[in-house]
Amino acid sequence: MYVCVCKGVTDHQIRQQVSDGARSWRDVREATGCGTQCGKCACFAKSVTREAVQEARAEADMGLAYAI
Ligand code: FES
Repeated sequence: MYVCVCKGVTDHQIRQQVSDGARSWRDVREATGCGTQCGKCACFAKSVTREAVQEARAEADMGLAYAI
C-alpha cells in the first residue's frame, strides 16, 4: 500500500530499503524521499520502518544463534 502519496512510496519499498541495509527512518527518508514533501506520512512511515528494522534485527539474531 502507498505510505507516501507525495513521493509514491509503498510499505514494500520501505521494507526493501531496510532489507538492503537501511537501519533508521533517516536512512529510509534519504533513500526514498518519503516524508520530504508535505510530511503527513512521516508518523506512519516511521512506524513501518521501526517494525521492519525490528524484524531485520530479529532475523540477524536468529542467524547468529544458528551460527554458534
Ligand atoms: Fe509523504 Fe506527503 S504524503 S510527504
